[in-house]
Amino acid sequence: MVKSVQDIEVEGRTSLVRVDYNVPLAEGTIVDDTRIRASLPTLSYLRERGARVILLSHLGRPKGKVQKELSLFPVARHLESLLQEDVLFAERLEEAERARQDLSPGQVMLLENLRFYPEEEHNDPSFSRRLASLGEIFINDAFSVSHRAHASTVGIVQYGGLPGVAGFSLLEEVKALDRLLHPQRPFVAVVGGAKISDKLESLQALVERVDGLLLGGAMANTFLLALGYELGDSLVEAEERGHAWDLLQRAYAADVKVVLPEDLVVAKDGHIKVIEAQAGVPSGYRALDIGPRTLDAYGQALAGAATVFWNGPLGLVEKEPFHEGSVGLARLLAASSAFRVAGGGDSLALLRRFHLTHAVDHLSLGGGASLEYLRGDSLPGIEVLLHGKDGQP
Ligand code: 3PG
Repeated sequence: MVKSVQDIEVEGRTSLVRVDYNVPLAEGTIVDDTRIRASLPTLSYLRERGARVILLSHLGRPKGKVQKELSLFPVARHLESLLQEDVLFAERLEEAERARQDLSPGQVMLLENLRFYPEEEHNDPSFSRRLASLGEIFINDAFSVSHRAHASTVGIVQYGGLPGVAGFSLLEEVKALDRLLHPQRPFVAVVGGAKISDKLESLQALVERVDGLLLGGAMANTFLLALGYELGDSLVEAEERGHAWDLLQRAYAADVKVVLPEDLVVAKDGHIKVIEAQAGVPSGYRALDIGPRTLDAYGQALAGAATVFWNGPLGLVEKEPFHEGSVGLARLLAASSAFRVAGGGDSLALLRRFHLTHAVDHLSLGGGASLEYLRGDSLPGIEVLLHGKDGQP
């Protein structure tokens, strides 16, 4: 079991805290601050004990180059308003190196986007040591980026040798997802999203674990293609059709009940209609949501479920009315007595937009990380907390 921030001496110590402040921004304004709020329990715990807090995060994928629009500066200002305290912002590592000496107990400093440095994603040993030298202890509170072996998730402990523990948000994620690794049955997974190629390995692992697999979103189109259906102008990954077919065979062999879209909401130049999936999407039309009969089939499959995991939207949720399938699913979940976990930014945004966050028991802040965790693989950012610098427990 990974050690928690409560298992380490924090009083008066300078703590490096890896958070995930990779939040959606629109023209410098934070659209959803859930990930920032998720870090507050750990920050309060540390500050109440007089720890000096240095926050590390990434934002977006700047690929090792400074990109002004991906600066964490707006996040520092927002954090100030949440903490009602000044938050220092260090644009450069050198600045942080100078300022760390003068931090007072309880004071918070946020470093600029670490992915402005190519060394971050390369888990560069000397960059990792440089980060580590800023603090005395390391706390990973960013489950959603723990599937990345980067300097700020792994290198600080691996090369920098700091003792590493988990923050409260990470622990909460692991606790909820562990219930899916040892689920009460029947266990049903609902997987949507755009691309099968992103999720193939996770789907293969899920097939071994679940009793029911409900597929939606543009990803389901590739499965329909594998069954020989016409998809019109819909998004498909034709090169993945063989993998989709194999996955269906594995599911049938494992006696997993698979529900694919029976009907689809399709659109062409603003003209929207519902069609039978088997009849094929007419040419020029795109499938943009599951239809009402599919939602009914989902409802039946979910009826007796004791555990449910949902990842990825079932339609083009950012555009009305193609959010209806996903909102319908959220309503089904709200009425279910199963233990329910939803993962990923899109599901989170949708549940918030329609005031349906109560529909699930746990909202995982990590889409990719939660899928990887459910494969049963350990994540590098958690593994390093378990085994420390030398790979020893
Ligand atoms: C996420 O948003 O899933 C995490 O912040 C990880 O981001 P990444 O996929 O760019 O590593």
